[in-house]
Formats: sequence, structure tokens, C-alpha cells
Amino acid sequence: MPAHANSSVGFRFAGVGAALPEKIITNGDLTVAMDTTDEWIRDRTGIGARHVGGSTSELSTLAAREALERSGLAPGDIGQVILATTSPDFICPGTAPAVAHALGLDCGAFDLQAACSGWVYGLVVANGLMLQGLVNILVIGAESLDRITDYTARDTGILFGNGAGAAIITQDPSAKGQVLGWDLGANGAHVGILYSEHDGVLQMDGKEVFRQAVTVMQRSTHASLAMAGLTIDDIDLVIPHQANTRIVDAAWKKLGFSHDKTVMILDRTGNTSAASIPLALADALADNRLRPGDNVLFLGFGAGMTWASMIVRWDGTLIGTAAW
Ligand code: UT7
Repeated sequence: MPAHANSSVGFRFAGVGAALPEKIITNGDLTVAMDTTDEWIRDRTGIGARHVGGSTSELSTLAAREALERSGLAPGDIGQVILATTSPDFICPGTAPAVAHALGLDCGAFDLQAACSGWVYGLVVANGLMLQGLVNILVIGAESLDRITDYTARDTGILFGNGAGAAIITQDPSAKGQVLGWDLGANGAHVGILYSEHDGVLQMDGKEVFRQAVTVMQRSTHASLAMAGLTIDDIDLVIPHQANTRIVDAAWKKLGFSHDKTVMILDRTGNTSAASIPLALADALADNRLRPGDNVLFLGFGAGMTWASMIVRWDGTLIGTAAW
């Protein structure tokens, strides 16, 4: 991979929001539709329930509105919307313009498709846009995976659900926050291990996705740490893509991360692809798990295969109110 250097301006997470549709499919519900058990699903994946319903634009708008309210910013302050999704409302146009319109924004808006790595890809793009002068950027990860999931299929039906998470990042030279390191990757040789055709449902070679995921999580973590000049011990909190607790267990064993520094919400949400990391970030904030100055690692992987990581020094100071 070509070498790249880090460049970053001072910034903070000015607002974070989350949205999950009301309807829940529990493991117990799935036992009616397929030959499975609650115990098997929990043991093999860590998942207890997943949310379904709502469109990607609806869920995005709910999460982004919450982020906007928490930020104290006005709609006119937002300079760009990046919407990471693998389940857009339409093949054309993108979903981001409709979300920007629903929020009353007047700025550029585009979708970003990097599957489950999409939101972290979005953060890296947003960092580049901040370097070009944009001040407030809305980065959303949102999915309505129930549209492409067969809830009678034993391999995929147990995994996927809907949701959205959104963050507004704000350039501020006086902020403690900084991008310390990042890494983006893709290996199209593995397109066939997780995909959906137009009007189809997700098809997956679960064992191969598992193997690749454990490998690329290590590779990407090391790449971001190297750029940041940090070691594993310097990371205060890891927010990984929520796909399978056993994937995290296997990668953490090799990397040496501890579970008490890890945010996991998989039990309640299932795999929400591009939404999973910002949803977990919102959960970590609700649990008061982030302190100004913390080194936070966002770590994603997904179909493609794609992978993405970013290490940020955390500054979540809300405008005009208390810090998170
Ligand atoms: O964002 C990335 C998204 N994708 C992923 O994260 C996928 C990663 N892979 C996985 O999560 C796992 O491969 C699965 C959870 C999908 C499957 O787990 P596995 O340990 O790879 O199961 P397997 O396909 O090797 O099947 C093991 C056994 C088989 O029974 P026998 O042959 O040992 O008797 C299957 O028939 O488990 C059985 N099985 C099930 N049993 C109950 C497979 N699926 C189920 C099920 N419920 N849903």
C-alpha cells in the first residue's frame, strides 16, 4: 500500500445521535422461522435481538437531528453531509440529499458505499474536507438491512438489523481533538464472500468473512497505530464494528486489547453494518465512557472486503454546554 502521512486540524465531536426502529426481532422470534435456538445464536455471534423497520433516510434523519440538537448548531452551519450506507433508499439518487432536505440543510450531500467500514471511511473523508476548510461536517452511518436480509436464512438472518448513528465533527483550532492516525483498505478478491445483487438478499460465506475480518482488524489497527506513533496500551477505548463477538475475541487475543476498553452493543442491535460504530459511539457517550484527551480507536471491516480504522484524540465538548 502506498505510504501516506497524517495531517489533521483541531476538531471535536460536537454532537452524536442514534436511532433504532421500534420493532425488534428476538432470537426467540427467529426460532419460528428457521431451525435455530437462542443459545446457538448467542454462543456463535453474541446477538440477542435486532431492530427492523424504517427506511435509511428516516433513520438517518432521526439520528442526525439528535446530533444536530446536541451540537447546538443550526442547520445552516452544516457544510457537508456524508451518508455511509449499503442499503440506500434508491439505487439512484443517493439517500444523503433527501436527508439534508429533511433537516433543512443547505450544503453538499453524498452517499458513501464501503459496506460496514463506511462510517470510518466517512470520518477520513471528513478529515480531508476539514483540511480544505469546511468547519461542520455531518457523518452518518445508516442501514435498513431488513430490505436485503432473508430472515429465514440460518447464516445471514440471525445477524443483520437496522439503525443509524450520526456525528457532527467541528473544526476548531482550540480543540484538543485530533486525528492521530488512520488506515483505509480494500481487497476486491473477496467480493464474492459477502454481497447482494440488485433486488436480492445478502449472500455470505460466513467462515471466510470471519477469517478475513480477524486478519484485517489486526492489519488496520497496526497501520493506524504506526501512523499515530502509539502502541496498543495507549488506546483508551476501542469502538469496533459490531458483527460477531467471536470475531472481536479472536482479533483482540492477537492484538492484546482488553475487553473492558471495548464498546459492544451487538447483543441489542445485531449487525447494523455502517451504522454499528456510530451507534456504539452514542452508547459509549450515554455510559460516560469517554474523557477529553482519550485516544479512541474506531475499527471497521466489511463486504468488499473493505476495512478502515482511525485513532482520534477525543474532544467531545458540546457548544455552550458541559463536556461529555
Ligand atoms: O459485517 C460482516 C458480516 N458478516 C459476519 O460477521 C459473518 C462472520 N461469520 C459468522 O458470524 C459465522 O460464520 C456464522 C455465525 C454466520 C456461522 O457460524 P459458524 O460457526 O461459522 O457456523 P457453521 O456455518 O460452521 O455451522 C456450524 C454448525 C453446523 O452444524 P453441524 O454441521 O456442525 O452439525 C450448522 O448446521 O452450526 C449449524 N448452524 C446453525 N445452528 C443453529 C448454522 N447456522 C445455524 C443457526 N442456528 N442459525
